[in-house]
Amino acid sequence: MFAKLSFTLCLLASLSSLGVLAEPIVIRDRRVSLPTVKRVNTTGIANVLKIDQSRAKSLRNRVQNPGLRARASSGSVPITSYATQYLVNVTIGDPPMPFRLQVDTGSANTWFGAAKIIRAPTSAKDTGQSLDVEYGDAVMLGEEWVDQITLTPGLTIHNQSMGLALAAVGFAGEIDGILGIGPEVLTYSTLFPNQTSFIPTVTDNAFAQGLINEHSVGIFFAPTASIDGVTNGEVSFGGADDTKFTGDLNYMPITTTYPSSRYVGLNQTITYGASKLPILSNNAGITDTGTTLLLIATDAFQAYQAATGSEPDPDIALLRLTPAQFANLESLFFTIGTETYELTPNAQIWPRALNSAIGGSDDFVYLMINDIGTPSGYGFDFIDGMTFLERFYTVYDAAQNRFGIANTEFTYAQVA
Ligand SMILES: *[C@@H]1O[C@H](CO)[C@@H](O)[C@H](O)[C@H]1NC(C)=O
Ligand SMILES: *[C@@H]1O[C@H](CO)[C@@H](O)[C@H](O)[C@H]1NC(C)=O
Ligand SMILES: *[C@@H]1O[C@H](CO)[C@@H](O)[C@H](O)[C@H]1NC(C)=O
Ligand SMILES: *[C@@H]1O[C@H](CO)[C@@H](O)[C@H](O)[C@H]1NC(C)=O
Ligand SMILES: *[C@@H]1O[C@H](CO)[C@@H](O)[C@H](O)[C@H]1NC(C)=O
Repeated sequence: MFAKLSFTLCLLASLSSLGVLAEPIVIRDRRVSLPTVKRVNTTGIANVLKIDQSRAKSLRNRVQNPGLRARASSGSVPITSYATQYLVNVTIGDPPMPFRLQVDTGSANTWFGAAKIIRAPTSAKDTGQSLDVEYGDAVMLGEEWVDQITLTPGLTIHNQSMGLALAAVGFAGEIDGILGIGPEVLTYSTLFPNQTSFIPTVTDNAFAQGLINEHSVGIFFAPTASIDGVTNGEVSFGGADDTKFTGDLNYMPITTTYPSSRYVGLNQTITYGASKLPILSNNAGITDTGTTLLLIATDAFQAYQAATGSEPDPDIALLRLTPAQFANLESLFFTIGTETYELTPNAQIWPRALNSAIGGSDDFVYLMINDIGTPSGYGFDFIDGMTFLERFYTVYDAAQNRFGIANTEFTYAQVA
């Protein structure tokens, strides 16, 4: 071993003296993790089902009719509402201007100015193109600029395309904009006049510029029993953070089934309980950091409701159980690739200590699984949202167009 090392050092020394190594050797950790803060809007969460169903509709429509600009227009959802958000701090430009962005794997544009119009940093360059990004009942219209963005000290991405909003409607909370880290294809038709151009995401550019050594993003969130402002997760650019998961990461290709194939999409089969009651057969859907609930196709939802004996709460629309029924609730099993992942009874419910925060009662237990609003078999049969992502580590590997998943220390955790 020492012989090999000294040989390597010798080789490096001789290469240096030959001028082959123009720069000193810098050993860098080329995976960079950003902490995320979770925000819960308790007013918004009372509408969580409407908000999530509206988002599901818009995610489906956005890729199916990119030119059409059709709003999800569910009509009944107040536009300035959100249920939960995961936020990161970044800076843009030089001198740096700080912003708080919502991390979104369900879109791929990065932009600023959600809360108020922002002046471009002096270092930014206007590309002359305009930008139009739609999210369900929310929309941003603005201009495309190019500048540097610093995700964390040590990860400054140059020449990043970003939007500066001239108008942004429907973005509530303390966010300044969106950090879209989904597949680049989701930027299709967001620019004008070059509508057919794709816009490389921050992950794409960080990799292209050699700032990270894998073209992939790892996502970790822990479940929380408090309502707001908790640092409970991290987004890792450059690959999975192996301190955040247990056992092996299981990879499989991004689903080929349209329209889930445009997203961080996968095939999964869901069964309920020890008897393996079928809930959803091998069908395509997506994971999404912008959705709170775990939404499943209407027929799967009906099977789940029947299996659990739950009923919709007349006020907050979520399924509810009595404590006695909850004592009999069994796990859901997700077969993804060759492995099966368990979503325990505790992982299927809204934290009971927070029932009053959502307008619920302490006499019931509320379930976080609900109806996506369309039947199965149409290529968009589930959204594995926050409820799912707080129990499993996931990876979007753009280089190999694959999805990875592993258990975490929170998969079987009991949250009060
Ligand atoms: C971001 O900045 C805000 C305000 O300075 C701070 O409260 C928060 O903890 C920071 N971190 C994240 C991940 O948002
Ligand atoms: C950014 O773009 C400028 C102008 O096109 C180019 O000179 C520079 O090398 C680019 N920087 C990186 C890191 O790609
Ligand atoms: C929470 O959502 C409600 C509507 O559901 C909205 O009026 C309010 O502004 C939101 N609160 C925050 C802090 O964004
Ligand atoms: C539109 O795309 C073409 C080809 O990629 C490019 O040459 C042109 O500069 C782009 N236009 C703008 C306004 O960026
Ligand atoms: C996913 O399921 C669909 C059928 O629902 C199938 O056509 C496809 O081959 C499956 N696998 C992948 C990787 O998409």
